[in-house]
Amino acid sequence: MIDNRTGVEHTLPIVDGAIRATDLGKLGLLSYDPAYLNTGSCRSAITEIDGDAGILRYRGYPIEQVAESATFLETAYLLFEGELPTAAQLKAWEDDVRIHTYVHQNVKKFLEGFRYDAHPMGMLLGAMGALSTFYPDAKEIGDRDGRYLQRVRLIAKIPTIAAFIFRHSRGLPYVLPRNDLSYVGNFVNMTFEIGGSLQPNPVLQQALEVLLILHADHEQNCSTSAVRSVGSSHVDPFSAVSAGIAALYGPLHGGANEAVLKMLDEVGSIENVPAFIESVKAGRGRLMGFGHRVYKSYDPRAKLIKRVADEVFEQTGLNPKLKIALELERIALEDEYFVSRKLYPNVDFYSGLIYQAMGYPTNYFTVLFALGRLPGWIAQWEEMLNDPEQKISRPRQIYVGSPLREFVPMSAR
Ligand code: CMC
Repeated sequence: MIDNRTGVEHTLPIVDGAIRATDLGKLGLLSYDPAYLNTGSCRSAITEIDGDAGILRYRGYPIEQVAESATFLETAYLLFEGELPTAAQLKAWEDDVRIHTYVHQNVKKFLEGFRYDAHPMGMLLGAMGALSTFYPDAKEIGDRDGRYLQRVRLIAKIPTIAAFIFRHSRGLPYVLPRNDLSYVGNFVNMTFEIGGSLQPNPVLQQALEVLLILHADHEQNCSTSAVRSVGSSHVDPFSAVSAGIAALYGPLHGGANEAVLKMLDEVGSIENVPAFIESVKAGRGRLMGFGHRVYKSYDPRAKLIKRVADEVFEQTGLNPKLKIALELERIALEDEYFVSRKLYPNVDFYSGLIYQAMGYPTNYFTVLFALGRLPGWIAQWEEMLNDPEQKISRPRQIYVGSPLREFVPMSAR
């Protein structure tokens, strides 16, 4: 590298296709990368994405195979431990989760304090943060067994809390966990059961299982980076995860599935699609559910979700909004604006339609995303803690404010 201020040539080691920003520091240079467009913040062995080729792998296994063959809890085990569980290991993990599904009664009281129309994601992030106060031992993040216990608690309790939130919004009594059911079966029961009449639909239940698997991890996205960054202060994992939930809430991230449904409502009918596309191209809003920081081809999760959508709609009947979505996709994939920017449907484009068909309200979609993403957040948090290179996350800045000036007393302003 030649420093063109001085003409001096420096050699910076290139390892794994990267130079270290701290090596630039030795030359008196700062690397400047707002929004981390080209900065690796960690070495990770959990999830691999090749955005140009549309590849997503968990611990080396293609997402298509994991979604086809694993359960959600099995996927979580894979993300945490790095290997697929044996039958005995899976059973032990499932049993551990099963015996931690209850939450303290005060969590119920805490949730009851929210207004009837509180946004479910606001409730979820508040409740998750509050859980840290119920488990003060969660602060012992250096203890391997302790971390395992918190991992189990987080995975076991999030469906219970998420279901309580669902019931709260509807004014329905909370349904307690049933430990004879599967992870997803129990969640569906806690959300939809009324008077012992729930007849769970196995196709919809399996579809939900697959959707959770597809969301389970996605390397250094905004919410995962939030969990890692907040966790790097050595706060307990409940607090770190609630930071991830806050990040996921935003419409550019997990909130996009909710935004897609709002957009489809706005478009209203197929005839309005061309005009809507033109308005997006003119810079009046975005085509929600399209585009991705990393994928510059079809998001592999979106491909799988489209298949799930077919199975679900066969059971529930066609959602008229699906036709609008398909038409938006058809036109966008042919349009120079979207093609040249490599904008393809992402995971959120069709997931909302499926959640709606399952009976979840629009403002609840991102809670389902959080349920799915939780194993990824925890696995990445633990990887960060075990990485000897990691320290408290603390970016630098380029100061562009006023130079030194004298304070002006109020009377003189
Ligand atoms: N509709 C219209 N134009 C778009 C879109 C879109 N959805 N996404 C990107 N663009 C344009 C953008 O205007 C820019 O054009 P130009 O170069 O002329 O200024 C170009 O494409 C590059 O966009 P960018 O904002 O620099 O890209 P980014 O990597 O910073 O943003 C994104 C990625 C996902 C935030 C963005 O594509 C977006 O806002 N999409 C809609 C929201 C969405 O669906 N989010 C879910 C993401 S996937 C799941 C998840 O992470 O939760």
